[in-house]
Amino acid sequence: QGLPGTKYERTFMMVKPDGVQRQLTGEIIKRMETKGYVLVGLKMVTPDEKLVSQHYDDLKARPFYKGLVKYMSSSGPVVAMVFQGKGVVDYGRVMIGVTDPLKSAPGTIRGDLSVDVGRNTIHGSDGTSPAQDEIALWFKPEEVADIKNCASAWIY
Ligand code: PPS
Repeated sequence: QGLPGTKYERTFMMVKPDGVQRQLTGEIIKRMETKGYVLVGLKMVTPDEKLVSQHYDDLKARPFYKGLVKYMSSSGPVVAMVFQGKGVVDYGRVMIGVTDPLKSAPGTIRGDLSVDVGRNTIHGSDGTSPAQDEIALWFKPEEVADIKNCASAWIY
């Protein structure tokens, strides 16, 4: 499932509450789909503190951790997504831009759509192993579509 390095590689992405509130979900999905990546999982979730803490577990020691967990768990829904395609984990991060939107290049999601670090619109997994963990955390296996049989090799 979602084998890294193949056209079935998968990543987890999430439109954060600020992105949902600013109605950027469609724009973000459009960018990923237009690139050639396939949306294979999608749901709107209002995450509780437990889910957000699990998701950001590796950031526990960071000074912004508490505020980040509070923001993500008390600001309304997020849109959780799984995208599939060749290089989607790393290239998805390129499309997102760097953490600070003001340091993100124009043409990236954060560079074009966001300003503040703490409201940087979107999350994307930062490696194939975190991607698998995050997909498993946010989605049941049956909630991710098994889209493998594209007729054309160039449809990613
Ligand atoms: S760091 O500093 O290198 O660990 O940062 P980075 O790996 O780029 O970011 C990890 C996640 O923490 C979020 N982040 C912040 N949130 C709120 N406030 C501040 N100051 C802040 N700094 C970093 C950052 O957006 C990453 O989360 P995701 O969900 O991946 O965007």
